[in-house]
Amino acid sequence: MCGIVAAVAQRNVQGILLEGLRRLEYRGYDSAGMSVIDAGALTRKRALGKVAALDAQLAAGALPGHTGIAHTRWATHGKPSEANAHPHHSYEQIAVVHNGIIENYERLKARLEAKGYSFTSETDTEVIAHLMFERIQQGLTLFDATAQIVSELGGAYALGLISTHEPDVVVGARQGSPLVVGVGIDEAFLASDPLALLQVTDRFIYLEEGDVVELRGLGEIRIRDRSGRAVERPVHTFEHGDGAAHKGEYRHFMLKEIFEQPEVIATALEGRLSEEGVLVESFGPEAQALFARARQVHIIACGTSYHAGLVARYWLERYAGVPVQVEVASEYRYRHPVVLDDTLFVTLSQSGETADTLAALRFAKTLGYIGSLAICNVPGSSLVRESDLTLMTRAGPEIGVASTKAFTTQLVALMLLTLAMGKAQGLDDAQRAEQAEIVAALKTLPRVCQKALALDGAIEALSQAFAEKHHALFLGRGAHYPIALEGALKLKEISYIHAEAYPAGELKHGPLALVDSEMPVISVAPNDDLLEKLKSNLQEVRARGGQLFVFAEESIGIRDQQDVRVLGVPVIHESLTPLLYTLPLQLLSYHVAVLKGTDVDQPRNLAKSVTVE
Ligand code: G6P
Repeated sequence: MCGIVAAVAQRNVQGILLEGLRRLEYRGYDSAGMSVIDAGALTRKRALGKVAALDAQLAAGALPGHTGIAHTRWATHGKPSEANAHPHHSYEQIAVVHNGIIENYERLKARLEAKGYSFTSETDTEVIAHLMFERIQQGLTLFDATAQIVSELGGAYALGLISTHEPDVVVGARQGSPLVVGVGIDEAFLASDPLALLQVTDRFIYLEEGDVVELRGLGEIRIRDRSGRAVERPVHTFEHGDGAAHKGEYRHFMLKEIFEQPEVIATALEGRLSEEGVLVESFGPEAQALFARARQVHIIACGTSYHAGLVARYWLERYAGVPVQVEVASEYRYRHPVVLDDTLFVTLSQSGETADTLAALRFAKTLGYIGSLAICNVPGSSLVRESDLTLMTRAGPEIGVASTKAFTTQLVALMLLTLAMGKAQGLDDAQRAEQAEIVAALKTLPRVCQKALALDGAIEALSQAFAEKHHALFLGRGAHYPIALEGALKLKEISYIHAEAYPAGELKHGPLALVDSEMPVISVAPNDDLLEKLKSNLQEVRARGGQLFVFAEESIGIRDQQDVRVLGVPVIHESLTPLLYTLPLQLLSYHVAVLKGTDVDQPRNLAKSVTVE
């Protein structure tokens, strides 16, 4: 989605802004732009397409100056074009960049047009520039004018503004869309994602909803909350270093992130398991009481995070005996859910800023849940701040749009939740012994994942069989059905091959009609009590001339032959096979996408963090 970078410094800011935009590219966008104040006048460059196109324009004519704002736009109102790209100017005195949507812009636009303002874009953003111009004409400072106009703007947004009237000031505002201040020495920055600013600082202030911030030339920072009161917000040091922003030896971020999984899974487990089992307090001081009381769990998420929730349903019901409902946030928030007494509300989100998930949490707070838990990868994100309990997944920044390590660390967190809820509710001897086995298996997980990644070469060879295909079918049973869903999602996201997933038992109820030699069928076949049933389903595919690709333990006796390609996955306790079998499916979609020559890290039309509805 859209990205904001802004800077006010004692040096030229063009390089900082451009590098910031490059670091935001992973979020998905279709145009880019930058405005800088040079000798009291606004200068601007905008380009359709990649940041490299903007860079080329800047190479042809630089934008010198110490104060500037920049943006990557993901089109919502108005097509991707140079005219619709941000920043938007009003009378060459005000420049604005904006993430999110101004829902009442049509009414505001009509009012401004009636006053004689003319519009050069189809965006909702341009109204902000003109509203600001009106206020600045009345003699208000940029800070005061912003604080006034935000009360007129409906919707969710983050803003960055500069004005020729105050050439050493940047103002920002946050309402429903993330915005952080980067704290420098005698300089200050603004961005929608701290990753954009790790090149210049590792100290950040996470703005709260309704905050307006003023950054001045010597690094002075003033914040007002939604009621207009001056407030101080804590400065946090970013923990993950700047390495996350680089691909290192890897060809793509996605591949780097796939191979980081053994390490981040170990990090996600660190300090959360003792000799006796899971430490329930890892979820926060209130966790023991809430988990002991919970009779039901509702899990809400979007995209890949939703698939993690579907796995958790199998786990929580089987190992903790707690009934679970899982739903996508965009549906849940517009339903009339019936919430029984003593239900815990759980959100899953890599970013902690997904608009629908956040809205679902806010809605849930009105429905009488006993409390909310966020399982999230971004400390300080909205979801984390607004939930009662949190567990950070500690995957580190994930740059590839297709989620990989964020998913598997969510699964680790959800297994910890399963163990913690079981423990808080009380275990009998058999359950205690089962928990001990799972805990022991969790401790071996990073090592076993490392072994699974050794399949990379074999999977790369296998991927050739998909390069010319237009469709693929993924099958799984039980907790591996969501893994099949995730495998299909990965393939369609980055290779643009149409892929669908079915619980294998549903094969005869429709998808079998599609099976012929042109339809590869990928199956996750762990050695569990559903294996024999799954084998029968696979025979049904073979009998129709389908080409099977089976991920399974070698010991289960499915032979590699012409119409059945078998890839041996290492052995682990059956509770953790959904996590382990995810890795070869990630590698498969990666290699198919590389073969097809798609943009692996930034697939077309998709965004990393969906901060609009
Ligand atoms: C987008 C991303 C997905 C992600 C989904 C939910 O669609 O491209 O990778 O799974 O949003 O995001 P969240 O940050 O809430 O997990």
